Order: sequence, then structure tokens, then C-alpha cells
Amino acid sequence: MSKVVITIFGASGDLAKRKLYPSLFRLYKSGILAENFAVIGTARRPWTKAYFEGIVLESISDLAVSETQAKTFASHFYYQSHDVQDAEHYATLKKLQDELSDTYQTEHNKVFFLAMAPEFFGTIADHLKSEHIVDGQGFERLIIEKPFGTDLETAKQLNQALSETFDENQIFRIDHYLGKEMIQNIFAVRFANILFEHVWNKAFIDNIQITFAESIGVEDRGGYYDQSGALKDMVQNHILQVLSILAMDKPASFSSADVLPEKIKVLESLRLPDEQAINTNFIRGQYQAGQINNQDYQAYIDEPSVASQSKTETFASGVFFVDTDRFQDVPFFFRTGKRLTEKGTRINIIFKNNANIFEQTVTPNILTIYIQPTEGFSLQVNGKEVGKHFSIEPVKLDFRHDADALGNSPEAYEKLIYDVLNGDVTNFSRWQEVKASWTLIDKIVNTWQADKAPLHYYPAGSMGPVESFNLLKKYDTNWIWQP
Ligand code: BG6
Repeated sequence: MSKVVITIFGASGDLAKRKLYPSLFRLYKSGILAENFAVIGTARRPWTKAYFEGIVLESISDLAVSETQAKTFASHFYYQSHDVQDAEHYATLKKLQDELSDTYQTEHNKVFFLAMAPEFFGTIADHLKSEHIVDGQGFERLIIEKPFGTDLETAKQLNQALSETFDENQIFRIDHYLGKEMIQNIFAVRFANILFEHVWNKAFIDNIQITFAESIGVEDRGGYYDQSGALKDMVQNHILQVLSILAMDKPASFSSADVLPEKIKVLESLRLPDEQAINTNFIRGQYQAGQINNQDYQAYIDEPSVASQSKTETFASGVFFVDTDRFQDVPFFFRTGKRLTEKGTRINIIFKNNANIFEQTVTPNILTIYIQPTEGFSLQVNGKEVGKHFSIEPVKLDFRHDADALGNSPEAYEKLIYDVLNGDVTNFSRWQEVKASWTLIDKIVNTWQADKAPLHYYPAGSMGPVESFNLLKKYDTNWIWQP
């Protein structure tokens, strides 16, 4: 059972309502949070405690077993109207923090969750120190939402600002993909199966394909997205994090002390493309009007808060190489985009063909990891087709979680907050990882922003521009996309 006061900056925001309160409630239901916890919500709006409790109750309405349970949980929530730039407000916060620590006997353990505009992260961290809210008593941990900077330079500045108040092992940079059940499952698939462990390298793997497809458009986030684009929004963080788990060497143990250095090694070994390689190996695209499931969707440039001449990419695809002994020259293809055919997050590991004694071509073994919406994995192997002739045919061994298991599977945020309460940094991005991924992404962004590479268009409802398919053809392969 955790003893803690959690302060959420951005308590009136969408993330808090959709993800944080329900996740905290699930932790409460499972007894990880019980009597000894309190939550302070802060935001500019002048809410009362009762109003804030109402918001919390609304966000957990589907999850509560009884009204009493929900109300008891919500009674642990306190609200403090707060201007992040006003030192006096931090003094009030400090007072409340100390009072709640006494009332709920939380032994001065503190978690600060920054769920708001990133430009204030540095200011908040500064004030937490100068107003002695961070006072060295109990554990003190900072959870910080993405984006961590908008390029290497701003990421460095932010890191510098945070490190004035918090040590690296007190900073928990959220990448919600690292909290997903099937992303964490990659460790199990790779390191708990002799079948895969010894063939997980360049001698046996032909290529790896990572697809993070979304059918939604930019919705009401046009203002943010138009400044960001798919590369910064999805690749710099989620895709490169997943790639690091796929490509890492076997850690000596499953502990953050052993896992994280292996992930860092991968990200620091990413091959940095020059301008020519960027042009041949990376594709940017933007959606035009089109249809998904018979419904019409407008072009990206017609979305609210998007510049009408915008050249921001809503689709990014390309190939990364990891210059390690394990994976030297093995292509890691990726593609991600908005308004694609369907929501589908999948990884395909395509193995090499072995020397074939049969008089017919044999399809390669493919391991598919289904991240979402369906969760599970499948393995394509070859067998004999039933009949009197000897003929080889591929068959699929398929495992998907059943609906019950899915119902019980924790939300990414629930798992990540649980890790924070336990001080486990394994599923968070370390500074060295962030630095290495920005180093690579900056190079591509710079070329794209200088308009030195073409922007390809694709109709909403497709799987991106044809150039993304042609890229794989150059490497003698195709995107694998099976149900
Ligand atoms: C976020 C991006 O990090 O991830 C969004 O900012 C994207 O643009 C989202 O839609 C996808 O997350 P999930 O969990 O729905 O796959």
C-alpha cells in the first residue's frame, strides 16, 4: 500500500479526466492506494473541493462498484487554484501539502504530475524547489508528460531546468506506449522463449516492420499537431522506444539497472542518415480528403487550426538501422499516420528463408505482435498441405487475449503510476534515450522543414502514400498486414 500525496498540475485538463483519475481509481480498487493518500489538483480555474470531487466522480462513473466506494475515493481529492508563475501560490500549495501529509500520514512522500503545457515544466520545477515543496523528506518523484522538448536543443534546456530540482532517478518521463500490455510483452516473447531468443539477430531476421496506424485525424489538436507532425508526435518517442526494446541485447536481469543501459545502447547506435539517405529512406505524407468505412473525411489542411498551406506531415515512414553486432544492416521499417485505413498497432518480425530442399518457394516465418486494438501474437510457420501430394503451405499459430483478459488488463497509465509509486524507472524514457532519439529525428526534421524532400499526399482511408510501399520494394520486401 502506497503512502503519498500526488499533486497534479493540469487537473482540469483532458488527460487528467480521461486517464489519470480512472487510473488512480483502479489503483484504489486494487488496494495499492488505500487510506494513506491524497491528491491535490491544481489549475487556473477557481474550482471548489466539491466541484473537483464531482469531476473525479464523473470520470470514474463506469468503474465504481458502489456510490460509497466512489465517494470515499473522491474525498481524498483537494483542489487548489494555481498560477504556475506566482510564487505565493506555491506557498499555499506547500501548506496544503504539509497538512495533507499529516492528515493522511503519507510520511511526506510526494509525486508531482505535470499534465499541462510543456512550456511551464521548468518554471514549476524551479518553484517546487525555491518554495521548499520539494524538501528532501520522503520520496519525491516527478512525472512528466510528452513532448519532452521540440528538438534536441529545447529538450536539453528542459532537462537542465528539471535537473536543478530533481535527480535523473526522480524523473519519470512518460511514454504511454511503454505502459501498454503488449509492448511490455515483447520482453517476455524475446527473453522467455528459447525458440526466439537465439534467432533474434541479423543471421536469422530479414527485417522488422513497425506499423502504428490511426484512423482518427487531428481532431481538436490541430494547433499542436501542425507545429509537430507525425515524426515528432509518434516516431521520436513511441516508435523509437519500441524499436529499442526490439533491438536490445539481452539484459543480465529484468531490472531497470540492466534493461535501461541496453535500450540506451540501441538508441545511441542508430545510424544517422545524411541528406541523401533521408531523401531515399524516409517518406513524409499528408492526408487529403477521402473515405473510411463509407464516411467522408476532409483533407488535413481543412482541419480546424491547421494552416491552409501547411506542409506538416500526418504520415511518416522510413527505415532505421541499428549499428550493433546483433542487428547490423537489418532494416527496421516503420510507418505511422493519421486517417489511415484502420487503427492498428503491430510489429512484424520477418525471418530469413533457410536453404530450401523443396521444389517450391517457401514463405518466411513471420512473428506478428498485435499491440492494439487486438492484443496477442501470431507465428506463421510452414507445414504440409493435406493431401497425397507433398506441398508446403504456410499456417498461422495465433494467440489473442480473450475479452475477459482484456477487461482486466490495466490501463497504460495505471501501470505507469504504479511503477512510479514503487520507484521503478524501467518503463520510462531516460534522458540519454531522449537525447539520442532527438539527435536522429532533428536531422530528418531539418531536411523536411527546409523542404528538401517531397511531401507526398494520400487519400484518407488509405495506408499512406505509394512511396512508402515502394521503399520496401527497394529492399525486396513488402509491408505485411494480415488480420
Ligand atoms: C499520442 C499522440 O502520443 O499517441 C497522438 O500525441 C496519438 O497523436 C496517440 O493519437 C496514440 O496513442 P494510442 O494509445 O491511442 O495508440
